[in-house]
Amino acid sequence: MRHQQLADLLAQMTLDEKIGQLTQVSGDFFSDDAEERTGPMTQLGIADEELANVGTVLNIAGAAQCRRIQIAAMQRHRLHIPTMFMSDVIHGYETIFPIPLALGSSWSPAAAQRMAKVAACESSVAGLSLTFSPMVDLVRDPRWGRVMESTGEDPYLNARMAEALVHGYQGDDLLHDIDRVAACVKHFAAYGAVAGGREYNTVDMSERLLRDMYLPGYRAAVAAGAKTVMTSFNTVDGVPATGNRHLFRDILRGEWGFDGVVISDFNAVRELIAHGVAEDDRAAARLAIEASVDIEMMSVCYLHSLAELVASGEVDVSLIDEAVMRVLMLKNDLGLFEHPFRGMDEARERQLIGCVEHRAEARRIADCSIVLLKNERGMLPLGCERGVESVAGSAITVALVGPLARSHDVLGAWSFKGRPQDAVSMADGMQRMAAEHGVNLLVAQQECDYFETSQAAIDEAVELSHRAGTVVLALGETSAMTGEASSRTNIALPQAQIELFNAVKAANAHVVVVVFNGRPLDLGAIGDAEAIVEAWFPGSEAGSAVADVLYGAVNPSGRLSMSFPQNVGQVPVYYNAESTGRPYEGAPGEKYVSKYLDASNYARYPFGFGLSYSSFVYGAPSVSSATFDAEHALDITVAVTNDSDIAGTETVQCYVRDRVGQVVRPVKQLKGFEQIELAAHETRTVHFSLRESDVRYVHADLGERSDPGAFDIMVGPNSRDLSTPLCVTLV
Ligand code: GLC
Repeated sequence: MRHQQLADLLAQMTLDEKIGQLTQVSGDFFSDDAEERTGPMTQLGIADEELANVGTVLNIAGAAQCRRIQIAAMQRHRLHIPTMFMSDVIHGYETIFPIPLALGSSWSPAAAQRMAKVAACESSVAGLSLTFSPMVDLVRDPRWGRVMESTGEDPYLNARMAEALVHGYQGDDLLHDIDRVAACVKHFAAYGAVAGGREYNTVDMSERLLRDMYLPGYRAAVAAGAKTVMTSFNTVDGVPATGNRHLFRDILRGEWGFDGVVISDFNAVRELIAHGVAEDDRAAARLAIEASVDIEMMSVCYLHSLAELVASGEVDVSLIDEAVMRVLMLKNDLGLFEHPFRGMDEARERQLIGCVEHRAEARRIADCSIVLLKNERGMLPLGCERGVESVAGSAITVALVGPLARSHDVLGAWSFKGRPQDAVSMADGMQRMAAEHGVNLLVAQQECDYFETSQAAIDEAVELSHRAGTVVLALGETSAMTGEASSRTNIALPQAQIELFNAVKAANAHVVVVVFNGRPLDLGAIGDAEAIVEAWFPGSEAGSAVADVLYGAVNPSGRLSMSFPQNVGQVPVYYNAESTGRPYEGAPGEKYVSKYLDASNYARYPFGFGLSYSSFVYGAPSVSSATFDAEHALDITVAVTNDSDIAGTETVQCYVRDRVGQVVRPVKQLKGFEQIELAAHETRTVHFSLRESDVRYVHADLGERSDPGAFDIMVGPNSRDLSTPLCVTLV
């Protein structure tokens, strides 16, 4: 429809019909079983005639279901306005990809875009028009369970990943490309900074820090064309996001020019009462509509109060009209007025969802998300000696033990329609590939619980460890231990798993630990494993991807996108910290400096860290000039050599330090990265460009600009092991 037609449609709508478009309820409200509908409707307090006006539907999918609901909705609606289906497809619809924190560890925006494209295709044929993704909350606290949904702790990397995800979901022609869906940037804003890592807790930071560190990721996603933004549950400077005019009207819409739909998080409008900024639903509705929240998800403050607020003159109907127009435009951008069933297609649903090509893509992306944290004495890859064919029949014997050895709980949280039983377990993956890699695999059969390892399981693990040349011990979290409402104060492995590790280690010195987890963990207790592989939750092809890496079919290339602390007492620990007035560089005996008595200041495994089966050697970086300015960017060059016999992928990282700012600046900030594939003994020259705009930052007056002065340039394989700083000057 043309814009004028939308305006004409709006003009025909009654106030109740307008308010209905600003309300979203879940799919169970539209069950064709009256019994099933009654419960949710009663609980929410929504009448049948109100339901007829509801404009969008949450978290239901399946072409047949969505088609049925769409037909009924358009029939019941006086003006036959189509509804729209929105769901949480966070890392895949039914073909499940690695969790976003693993995707962040791939450092591959291209992989993120491919993931989003497959997820959009499976979502669209199943009737969805929008996914509540990408989640772009910057995270520094692994106690918070939702770190698994984020791509990590760095604004630059998060921005590149967010752009890629938006492009993957939406494509270039959302109106005509029916295999794409609208994206929703969430949670605006700074939900990842909840105090103490405790879910739904207060967020308290200066607006300067918010703008400098936390907003850039969201801004990149909006700039990439994301159609919608979701409010966060938390407060921002004392005002809950869902009622925060400054955040939404001044920053998101005013400064960034976003004119798409803002949707509240689940019940978040009503929760303004619990926050203590609204005395009742009516006040909550007023705060939210004034903040330009367009759709209220799963509460009825708008439905039950907006009409009164208009009648009393407390809310001008123009606020409602602008919100409804944005919702109508979103539906129009998706072509729903002409094609209300859009991509939903039962035949294509059967053909595409979970298909071989999608699973293959999930495996490829899992392969490049896995991070090798330790590999002493070339423990890995298993099987053939590196570079030397194993003598025929001299297969090595490997024992696979631990709670994750045969577990199918490898999808992670927010795995929408993914089914664990369809996932490839470690045992599945390693069995299938054992023979071709010269491995005689012994898989423990005893049930091995995550939290209470039975003596039988320990005895079996020890016995297998005695028989094997190498033990692979699969440890970690359950999917339910991360995701929403899953904060933990203890981020160590469960004690039972530590005891199992100790028993196995005592029986066999050659232990490879593979960790499945949704957050950085305190891995101190398994620190003397000879090899440690961070698998995250790899998704549907988990076991295949882990086997690819363990057997060497894939040379691991993942690099951490979130720091692993020494222990929980050190949290939050992140690479781009401020210097402080008494920086501690690690010299023994220093007392009056910023440090702990009982732990290092540094992460156990830092941001950007990951090993490879190759070994990469960096030359000294060089710069094109000693100065740069607004017209002349700096060219930074570094030669990287694969000093091994094994081809591999290296992520070359470029960090910058602003030596003197008007406000304190981080000791380093990622300003560029380049992923290169190097053949054995190949050398490549990598270039980075540093522009004046790259060193702008938010000043005390909240203005974003650069300052002339000295900057240190550092290049290397991660945020810790960097070249000697090269000093350049912005003039
Ligand atoms: C949840 C989450 C949000 C999700 C929404 C809809 O509470 O906070 O990320 O998109 O509700 O399920």
